[in-house]
Amino acid sequence: MNPPTGHAVPPTFDVHLHDDWRMRALVDEVRSGLTSAPKQLTPRWLYDDRGSELFDQITRLPEYYPTEAEREILLARAGEIARRTGADTLVELGSGTSDKTRALLDAFEATGRLRRFVPFDVSEQTLRYAASVLADRHPGLHVHGVVGDFHEHLGDVPNDGVPVLAFLGSTIGNFYPSERARFFDEVADWMTDEAWFLLGVDLVKPVDRLMAAYNDAAGITARFTINLLDVLNGELAADFDPSGFEHVGLWDPIHTRVDLRLRSLRDQHVSIIGADLEVEFGDGEELKVEISTKFTREQIAGELDDAGIAVEQFWTDSGGDVAVLLARRAG
Ligand code: SAH
Ligand code: TRP
Repeated sequence: MNPPTGHAVPPTFDVHLHDDWRMRALVDEVRSGLTSAPKQLTPRWLYDDRGSELFDQITRLPEYYPTEAEREILLARAGEIARRTGADTLVELGSGTSDKTRALLDAFEATGRLRRFVPFDVSEQTLRYAASVLADRHPGLHVHGVVGDFHEHLGDVPNDGVPVLAFLGSTIGNFYPSERARFFDEVADWMTDEAWFLLGVDLVKPVDRLMAAYNDAAGITARFTINLLDVLNGELAADFDPSGFEHVGLWDPIHTRVDLRLRSLRDQHVSIIGADLEVEFGDGEELKVEISTKFTREQIAGELDDAGIAVEQFWTDSGGDVAVLLARRAG
């Protein structure tokens, strides 16, 4: 007799970000962000197909400690998280390739309770690919992908049953403080008494390690941020010269965050036809692209507490570089 073979359940998808919506959001943002002082854009445009591929390369750089440190915690604690939560649904925001999430899926499946995985990402191609790989790898699991923006569509994510909402990779560090507070309030609203929140954060550490991680020797991070200009050229028929800008990673000690910018190497004029906009960059002028905030335990627990979310577990890797915390709605 043949061994029983699992039958993969085909993944299903909700797409909240249609091309026309995306384009309108991009045009609005470019018009306001590139006419303000300082010039500024949000990070979600970094993750087109090329950007997602470059981010994947960043996670494998020797200087970029967060991915392996978080993986260490997840591998060590996945069983405990699965038993403690008894989850039947795992939701993952900003899931990307969901590579580290495999440790969680394996442990959750071993409890016999898991029935659904909901990866959620702005990058449709990466999400579809990850969803199909995971559906094949976990026959019997319903993989339901959501293409959306976590600043806008959290309310559309299913919260029935016993869900764990995972937000890993220190993506929370890429939010400005006001966005973070709003997001934690939305998470608290989303959470039922059965729900859990699993959050990955990067911790404050010596500046030399941070500078190395965000200004890597191979220049992959620079390619990742400069790719933003290619995105604007492609989507909005702009004429940015990517070689006219350099990647800059600065440490902001007041806000304990790395501040990633693109600096213009000369005076230059850019036409952005799709946004009907002409922009001047002065020599040395910077465009703010992304922040990456580093936390202390007290700070992150305090912010969650302000939103009515109580931290129950706080785990770090053996090097003390990053943390994963498990939280519930405060009683
Ligand atoms: N969780 C993965 C990937 C982190 S990179 C890890 O830990 O390695 C950040 C991810 O968030 C990317 O996959 C990117 O496409 C996604 N993302 C960025 N901005 C987003 C937004 N506004 N809404 C939803 N997903 C977003
Ligand atoms: N959440 C990741 C972080 O803050 C995202 C990231 C890694 C990133 N490297 C980057 C964002 C380089 C912009 C540029 O570490």
